[in-house]
Amino acid sequence: MNSIEVKNLTKCFGKFTSVDNISFDVKQGEVFGFLGANGAGKSTTIKMLCGILEPSEGDATVGGFSIKKESDKVKQQIGYMSQKFSLYSDLTVEENINFFASVYGLEGEKLEERKKWVLKTAGLEARTTSLTGTLSTGYKQRLALGCAVIHEPKIVFLDEPTGGVDPISRKNFWDLINNLSQQGITVFVTTHYLDEAEFCNRIMMIDAGKIIAGGSPGELKTNFLTNTILELDCSSPDKAIRLVDEVNWIKNTAYFGEFIHITLADEARNEIDTKINDIKKLLIENNIAVNRINRIAASLEDVFVNLLEKETN
Ligand SMILES: Nc1ncnc2c1ncn2[C@@H]1O[C@H](COP(=O)(O)OP(=O)(O)O)[C@@H](O)[C@H]1O
Ligand SMILES: [Mg+2]
Repeated sequence: MNSIEVKNLTKCFGKFTSVDNISFDVKQGEVFGFLGANGAGKSTTIKMLCGILEPSEGDATVGGFSIKKESDKVKQQIGYMSQKFSLYSDLTVEENINFFASVYGLEGEKLEERKKWVLKTAGLEARTTSLTGTLSTGYKQRLALGCAVIHEPKIVFLDEPTGGVDPISRKNFWDLINNLSQQGITVFVTTHYLDEAEFCNRIMMIDAGKIIAGGSPGELKTNFLTNTILELDCSSPDKAIRLVDEVNWIKNTAYFGEFIHITLADEARNEIDTKINDIKKLLIENNIAVNRINRIAASLEDVFVNLLEKETN
């Protein structure tokens, strides 16, 4: 069953098209990742799907209701965590929870039960009276998520929830997202961290307002990137990347942490060992020490780097 169905959704600001005729479905209970760089159109899409921003063209149903004609009904059954976390920093943890609970009309036993749940989820049981502004970003993020789903919505929209958070908090947050999904909640989450795509059941990649790829992590790897990827560990990576970029049988290069990933062009497919030796030789001739170069399995980041490269060519 589909939780969300998007059809030809478009948003223009004046002459500028921020979201350009996008269509896709999101299944109930899945973790759906909406990936793209800053300015790609993620927040604009989320705001339309939450009924906050009216589409210029196209429509979508969220939980069976049209975002164009029934935005009030859409709002009633979703949770939304905006990019700024939307917590009041001058309220205590408990006051923030009470505020969100009252917005959704929770009271009595239900309120107490849900408050306990949010505190436990956020790991803040011992800090109910702390001012929210004094919490670390990781705690704020978990509290914001708890508040966004305090009324137990079937669908929750999270706009870059892991932005500006350290890797360990990011991982903990993804565990939380998975728990929600296991309870049957549909999670629509945006991120510009390409590595987080691996945590999603399905992904859409948006660039300049357009969908450029979509599918499960496995499908993306097999359908969108059949080229060989090499990983290079060497001295002077900047110089190495400039040299390797000039080689005509190399399709693409990119930094991956301290290493470089090299995507070979299709024509190099049948002579990988020779090509590895050629690259080694080129680097050594230019006084670059090659610590390691070997073939690796493509990650989703490799897929996206290559897709984006294609777009800009
Ligand atoms: N209210 C607005 N008026 C004009 N342009 C906007 C407005 N909101 C967003 N944009 C533009 O639309 C593009 C997409 O923005 P956004 O959806 O916020 O991207 P993302 O969330 O992926 O970073 C950007 O170029 C942004 O400047
Ligand atoms: Mg955004």
